[in-house]
Amino acid sequence: MKPEIRKAAEILRAGGLVAFPTETVYGLGADASNAGAVARLYATKRRPADHPVIVHFGSKEKAFSWAREVPTGARQLAERFWPGPLTLILKRSALAKDFITGGQDTVGLRVPSHPVARGLLEMFQGGIAAPSANRFGLVSPTTAAHVREDLGDDVDLVLEGGPSEVGIESTIVDLSTGAALLLRPGAISRGDLAQLLNVKEARLSSPRHSGGLERHYAPRTPARLVSTHDLDKEIEKLKQRVAVLAFSRPDERVDYWLRMPRNPEGYARRLYAALRELDTAGCETILVEAPPDAPEWAAVRDRLQKACAAR
Ligand code: TXA
Ligand code: MG
Repeated sequence: MKPEIRKAAEILRAGGLVAFPTETVYGLGADASNAGAVARLYATKRRPADHPVIVHFGSKEKAFSWAREVPTGARQLAERFWPGPLTLILKRSALAKDFITGGQDTVGLRVPSHPVARGLLEMFQGGIAAPSANRFGLVSPTTAAHVREDLGDDVDLVLEGGPSEVGIESTIVDLSTGAALLLRPGAISRGDLAQLLNVKEARLSSPRHSGGLERHYAPRTPARLVSTHDLDKEIEKLKQRVAVLAFSRPDERVDYWLRMPRNPEGYARRLYAALRELDTAGCETILVEAPPDAPEWAAVRDRLQKACAAR
């Protein structure tokens, strides 16, 4: 792995794009200080320019040097959850340029825990801007093969790191306003955060963060969320070819059925690969059995609601 990582760091220094594994999903990385590299990153993702990217670092000291104010709450969260699946939004320092923040006065910072990501950040030393390594709005990649399918030759190198362990994007907490706002739920839950500070749910629909867009993380096949109670009825009604993502056993009337784990961690880990698989099953509709309405399912529910939102 060492020579591959060295090559990846060289590509980043030269302004190239490297996809790399993190514990959440695979990221598409560019040197966060290089305007040209970040412009290529946006073009490759087909991402609107006002949509900020998260900057990844090898240590919290490095990460916090990109913020001009680090509130106590941010230090506590970093101490407890970094390296790990948490992104903090803070007021930016002069290091975080407009091309990273979408022109906003804040910056998203994260210290990932995946060993390959850590090796790359250690070798590169600087900040790596990295959105999920998929085209904008579609399902995030959780394997190197997903990245190659999505981005092909548009990326200079894809580092292999096995399937992402968490499977959904990091929890995002905005600490730039005095209060603590949960912008995107993730594996680190509101309950986990509440042990350190009180976090309010952001109820806004805004393009500032992916979670703010109603339709996101979406397969190409139209998908619908249905309650456990309605699943049977919906299957009966549909005359089209249908693919189902559910907790229960396959139903013989259904063309393609994927059974999901009953625990939220296992479900999150499998979710994006499952959506990709259902999307290529040649069906006209995807039905998704809604997970329980309980706090530990909040992050999975959020992704499913967005995957199933009206287009
Ligand atoms: O788990 C993750 O966070 C993955 C891996 C690769 O680290 N990255 C990821 O990046 O999900 P992306 O770009 O797909 O989503 C990050 C979200 C974006 O929607 C962006 O708008 C939001 O974080 N974000 C970044 N900086 C922000 C800021 N200054 N204010 C508000 N939202 C911000
Ligand atoms: Mg994304």
